[in-house]
Amino acid sequence: MKVKKAIIPAAGLGTRFLPATKSLPKEMLPIVDIPAIQLIVEEAARSGIEEILIITNSNKQAIENHFDINYELESRLRDANKQAEEKMIRDIAEMSNVLYIRQKEPKGLGHAISCAKAFVGNEPFAVLLGDDIVVNETKPALKQLIEAFDEKQASILGVQRVAKKDVSKYGIVKTIDSYSKNNKLYEIDNIVEKPNQTEAPSDLAVLGRYVLTAEIFEILEHQKPGKNNEIQLTDAIATLLNKEAVYAYEFSGKRYDIGDKFGYLKANIDFALNRDDIQVQLYEYLKEIIK
Ligand code: UTP
Repeated sequence: MKVKKAIIPAAGLGTRFLPATKSLPKEMLPIVDIPAIQLIVEEAARSGIEEILIITNSNKQAIENHFDINYELESRLRDANKQAEEKMIRDIAEMSNVLYIRQKEPKGLGHAISCAKAFVGNEPFAVLLGDDIVVNETKPALKQLIEAFDEKQASILGVQRVAKKDVSKYGIVKTIDSYSKNNKLYEIDNIVEKPNQTEAPSDLAVLGRYVLTAEIFEILEHQKPGKNNEIQLTDAIATLLNKEAVYAYEFSGKRYDIGDKFGYLKANIDFALNRDDIQVQLYEYLKEIIK
């Protein structure tokens, strides 16, 4: 089986970014000048994904407009002789085959994923969370997970090691295989959502990239609300572990938690320092304020 479809859940409330997210979808917040969700769609496309389903809600039309053709803007850019800009906005509309479905109530990530059942059918599929931006110029994080799936034909969770003080922010996995320097793929024994430091079984945190088998839908259908009274994907994965093997893949790439204000600012600074059009100016400015 090949992974050809991806889900991007984007129906969360974005409370950590209020008031910006009162009317603007969190996923449209820009990293320099590119909406975060565009970076996620680009990663999926570069990983070989052919169809993407974005889970939205009534407040998220801006996302749909972003990936659609905007004839009026294109025509105005053409009249103003701005061919590069015209091509840029048309390329976004043609980047991938993007579909949408609404989650009517924010009942949790697990519930958002269950809204994609009809889209996915019986195939394995990918999930990318917009809160995690991963930069890897050579091989996108999702592509690394898909290759691990090709080898194991089983669900793969993207993980990276986090500081002990941060384990309570993530789903943390306990692996069956012990740590080895040359290994990146571990069979999972258990997974816990946001454990405190003393309860955490490891420092391997699940970071917004998954390849899952369609078995998860059956489990999500019966999943009771967990932490924060939300239907948690982590709880459903814990049940999946009783039925079939699930693996963790330690992907390489620099990851930014842009759901967090400081992570968002770090991403903006790093991306800007990598951009030919502003890096020199920003570098000089940073030097000046640090003095
Ligand atoms: P988060 O809890 O990190 O996102 O959910 P949030 O709810 O938007 O942000 P805060 O915590 O209120 O600031 C992780 C991912 O799951 C999606 C979110 O859009 C985000 O991509 N999600 C969450 C849904 O699609 N539906 C939900 O009911 C909950």
